[in-house]
Amino acid sequence: MLHEGGKAGGSRLPRSAVAEPIDSATAATLPSFSPARIACIGCGYWGKKVARNLASLGALHAVADVSPDALAEVSNQFTVPGHTFEAILEDPEVDAVAIASPAAMHGEHVRRALTAGKHVFVEKPLALQLFEGHSLVKLARDRGRILMVGHVLRYHPIVLALVDEVRKGRLGEIKHVYSRRFGLGKIRTEEDVIWSFAPHDISIILALLNETPTYVSGEATSIITPGIADIANIHLGFPSGVTARISVSWLNPTKEQRTVIIGSNAHAVFDDTLPWEKKLQIYDHRIELSAAAPSVSKAEPVSPKVAEGEPLREELSHFLSCIATGRQPLTDGHEALGVLSVLEQAAKSVRAKSGH
Ligand SMILES: NC(=O)c1ccc[n+]([C@@H]2O[C@H](COP(=O)([O-])OP(=O)(O)OC[C@H]3O[C@@H](n4cnc5c(N)ncnc54)[C@H](O)[C@@H]3O)[C@@H](O)[C@H]2O)c1
Repeated sequence: MLHEGGKAGGSRLPRSAVAEPIDSATAATLPSFSPARIACIGCGYWGKKVARNLASLGALHAVADVSPDALAEVSNQFTVPGHTFEAILEDPEVDAVAIASPAAMHGEHVRRALTAGKHVFVEKPLALQLFEGHSLVKLARDRGRILMVGHVLRYHPIVLALVDEVRKGRLGEIKHVYSRRFGLGKIRTEEDVIWSFAPHDISIILALLNETPTYVSGEATSIITPGIADIANIHLGFPSGVTARISVSWLNPTKEQRTVIIGSNAHAVFDDTLPWEKKLQIYDHRIELSAAAPSVSKAEPVSPKVAEGEPLREELSHFLSCIATGRQPLTDGHEALGVLSVLEQAAKSVRAKSGH
């Protein structure tokens, strides 16, 4: 057994931020209800994937992009009309939008879509400033519209299984979590690697720990574009005594997408680069503290059986289900504010260290 950590009465996340894992009813088969008619805004690298999944769910109604080439390609591929964003907002046949435009435009696009009465799915991050996120969440509430943010890994069947194992106490008391998201490109120039990559890790860690961090510190290195971090570390401290570390880089020769959870009874590794059946591995290593020095007995990893599913399809299926039922999404505006708050604190810490 490991030593017990401190147990300060901590600030638990609001209920909506830790909604129960989605159940099999939201598994991404074709929806049993008539799906909402959705327009995909932005047909770039990620928007194409969003459009493909919406089309396969029978929900893609139209697409928009300011680039005529990108628009024509996706509009032709899925045989749906290509419009301007403005025309989509005015189209009464469009129930909802899925926004995959550049992050710097999210705030404006979400605001205009909600104001036009559309339900909104927006790619991460919800906005590039916390105060703007708060006003968008309020707007969605005032307008009675679904606002869902694309923290896609929260819909990854393996992450759902991991969160389930942690909440059931399979790992014992969580002591430390670390997450690494490395790759080469896509190098962005408007938001840095913290805002681009870390929302995924923050969203998973907040779900695993069900607490709000009381300590957030960041450090970053800019190599390609002055002032835009390419490599960063974020350190988190939670009221329960748990600590977490997130490392992100889009300037790394190899791809790494790994979250490790150190519990008092077992350790878990989620590695999204491995084949499906090995993505989640739980190690029942034992650490004996009774002797003069801690001794370790290692165990072979076990991998819980998890049905395969494409996270983005699961996510968009959940959006459709929320529109149909009025239920709040797992990654609703409140969940996104928890993530934005950590991002903003990390960015502030980075700025303070660089003297800006
Ligand atoms: N969930 C994930 O894992 C994941 C992965 C990659 C990207 N993303 C997110 O997806 C979003 C898009 O990223 P990307 O890599 O596809 O970028 P991209 O640059 O490839 O695509 C953005 C597209 O938006 C279009 N656009 C710009 N302004 C527009 C406007 N006013 N109206 C309509 N279209 C407009 C651009 O022409 C471009 O085609 C970002 O928010 C990013 O964070 C999420």
